[in-house]
Amino acid sequence: MSKNLPQHILENLNTAVLLIDGGLTIRAINPSAEMLLQTGARQALGQPLTHLLPRNQAFIEAMHTTLLSGHPFTEHGLRLGVPVGRWITVDCTVTPTGPDLLLEINPIDRLLRLAREETRHDQHAASRAVIRGLAHEIKNPLGGLRGAAQLLERELPSESLKEYTRIIMHEADRLRNLVDRMVGPKTLPRKLPVNIHQVMEHVRKLILAEASPRLRVERNFDPSIPDLQADSDQLIQAILNIARNAVQAISGDGIVRLRTRIERQFTIGQKRHRLAARIDIEDNGPGISEELREQIFYPMVTSKPDGTGLGLSIAQDIIDQHGGVIEFTSQPGCTVFRIYLPFESAENGIRTAPGTTAGSATEENQHV
Ligand SMILES: Nc1ncnc2c1ncn2[C@@H]1O[C@H](COP(=O)(O)OP(=O)(O)OP(=O)(O)O)[C@@H](O)[C@H]1O
Ligand SMILES: [Mg+2]
Repeated sequence: MSKNLPQHILENLNTAVLLIDGGLTIRAINPSAEMLLQTGARQALGQPLTHLLPRNQAFIEAMHTTLLSGHPFTEHGLRLGVPVGRWITVDCTVTPTGPDLLLEINPIDRLLRLAREETRHDQHAASRAVIRGLAHEIKNPLGGLRGAAQLLERELPSESLKEYTRIIMHEADRLRNLVDRMVGPKTLPRKLPVNIHQVMEHVRKLILAEASPRLRVERNFDPSIPDLQADSDQLIQAILNIARNAVQAISGDGIVRLRTRIERQFTIGQKRHRLAARIDIEDNGPGISEELREQIFYPMVTSKPDGTGLGLSIAQDIIDQHGGVIEFTSQPGCTVFRIYLPFESAENGIRTAPGTTAGSATEENQHV
């Protein structure tokens, strides 16, 4: 094979392709690879591959081995360190072609995200169905139990005995509230135009009012975000549940960052949205433990002695109802929950929202 792949093939491939010579120097690069590795052909050609992938020494060594052995190899789910400190997940195939190596790179981050999202969605739907069935079975006899205790109370002669029936009624009410919370919002969202920053301000005030004065809440809002079609009370509930977890994670003594952004061409489920609002809730707490990560969106999963484990499950229900999705990343010192909400109508353009209370600059809030 010649050292230069035919230009028109290189330029039209969606796969990122590079031709690497025996000294591991880049001899050809197609536009997809330029885009993926954030470089230009002029800059890359003639450069050692290690310049482009300085953080993937093991992979470079595997290419050396292929040069010697002549055996191709494929690596699935390889984390590739690309410029500007970013990591991407890719499938990579290295094929010897004469004295050179053909390197094909396919990014799979998006596919992984979609698969993860779909699995979580299915599991969530299954557990919701179980909970609804269970709630129905619990609430009916519970109603009877409470009613009977009430009737009994009327018949009892002494106050001291009534104490017992009151306990029965109190516990029955507590159980009913718990079951109601597990089932989540009863009504479908009443969607109206909502300014997301008013929602964020509401949440900010609530967590500041609840927490210790040592809590710092930083805002970094994009004021150009158009109104969303949403149920503002439900959105407050979802964001508040996540923000409360953040405050609890730092034991009220740390920083919670609230951020809003616009995302373009964002895929949720099977649907690609031209524009979506992104809401980040970040804390500098200890992070989510490894064992809990796969389960935190399930109801009743909690690491807190007095937690019900329902906060995230309810938040996910609400965001689901709005056609959105919640993701998170977590490591010690930085946990970020990200809510993506699509703008339902395609006519929604970007504009500077009049009356937006927030500024675009990062600012730290005073305790209220
Ligand atoms: N920001 C965070 N940092 C660390 N762990 C978190 C964070 N957010 C959630 N978690 C973990 O996820 C678990 C589930 O959260 P969820 O809000 O569903 O329930 P909870 O906070 O335990 O109880 P509830 O919200 O019902 O009072 C938490 O117990 C905690 O272990
Ligand atoms: Mg919670």
